[in-house]
Amino acid sequence: MHVVITGGAGFIGSNIAARLVEEGHTVTVLDDLSTGQRGRLASIEVEVIDGDVRSFATVEKSVNNADAIFHLAAVVGVPYAMKHRWDSVTTNILGTYNLLTVARRRDIPVFIASSSAIYGKLSQSTPVVETDDVVIGNTHIASWTYSYAKLAEEQLALAAVQEWSASVKIGRFFNVIGPGQSGAYGMVVPRFVTRALRGERLPVYGDGTQTRTFADIEDVVSAVMTVWERGEWGAVYNIGGQEEVSINDLAHRIIHKTQSRSTIQHVAYDKVFGTGFEEPTRRRPSTAKLQALGYTPRYTLNDTIIRVVASMREKAGDLRP
Ligand SMILES: NC(=O)c1ccc[n+]([C@@H]2O[C@H](COP(=O)([O-])OP(=O)(O)OC[C@H]3O[C@@H](n4cnc5c(N)ncnc54)[C@H](O)[C@@H]3O)[C@@H](O)[C@H]2O)c1
Repeated sequence: MHVVITGGAGFIGSNIAARLVEEGHTVTVLDDLSTGQRGRLASIEVEVIDGDVRSFATVEKSVNNADAIFHLAAVVGVPYAMKHRWDSVTTNILGTYNLLTVARRRDIPVFIASSSAIYGKLSQSTPVVETDDVVIGNTHIASWTYSYAKLAEEQLALAAVQEWSASVKIGRFFNVIGPGQSGAYGMVVPRFVTRALRGERLPVYGDGTQTRTFADIEDVVSAVMTVWERGEWGAVYNIGGQEEVSINDLAHRIIHKTQSRSTIQHVAYDKVFGTGFEEPTRRRPSTAKLQALGYTPRYTLNDTIIRVVASMREKAGDLRP
């Protein structure tokens, strides 16, 4: 198969590219390299097109001979998307519109990368299932921009399914972590590990009792492949980790695994994001639908923290175990 991956120079896209190449597919990456890095693809044989998914002409040219499209290009990370609202909204809406339009003409199946952010402030004690309501906050609050943008992307895809039976599968990623992820755009694990390795304080926003789950990038790539190979057309699948952990606990585990002298510093949301910042207090996916396809994760959260620490130490030339 010839697969085009939008956002393929990003964290998740480059790992999907590596897996597809390993399986014998030909891969073209379409990425504007805004947060992506060519270096991530250095050891993989792929064609890289430096282009913007918001340009119809670029998308048309890039997916010309594709047998499949994996659409991951997006302005990612809530803090980063808050600063780049226009890019966040337009990349998701125009990019997805362009891809689906070309895919329709050429009859190309598409995998769409959505996000747990679409559930908004839903903070229930039971794991979130794909059919749960979404509860997104006030449209003026910038921290919800990413949620609205990803929701619009999903709606475009679901409308295409209804309108012309588009061959689309949607994966809703919950926090994905692993070696090679950048902390520059607000992702918590690489930020904490970097600071712990330097012996700096770990800034925990709010009181740190908010919970999340984290999935290993290797497991996420396997989950995407499972959805792609065995998922239903037109269906949505949660893709995420199972172990719910508070951000306080996450920070302590990272301090422990890095044998760091760092301490935790609680920082009020307002100080970092300005007034009105909102986020869910709990977030855990039900992956029953995904597991029914035969998917089983390999890594625990502790395994992945160890993998991230090792890769960051190696990058810094620090080879302590
Ligand atoms: N990382 C996570 O925890 C997570 C969670 C939920 C959803 N997602 C979704 O997964 C996808 C990949 O995320 P990631 O973590 O790899 O982020 P990333 O920032 O590493 O990758 C996104 C890529 O898209 C590219 N890009 C941005 N705007 C573009 C444009 N206009 N045209 C072409 N390329 C553009 C960037 O350069 C980057 O390489 C995104 O759609 C994101 O919304 C990620």
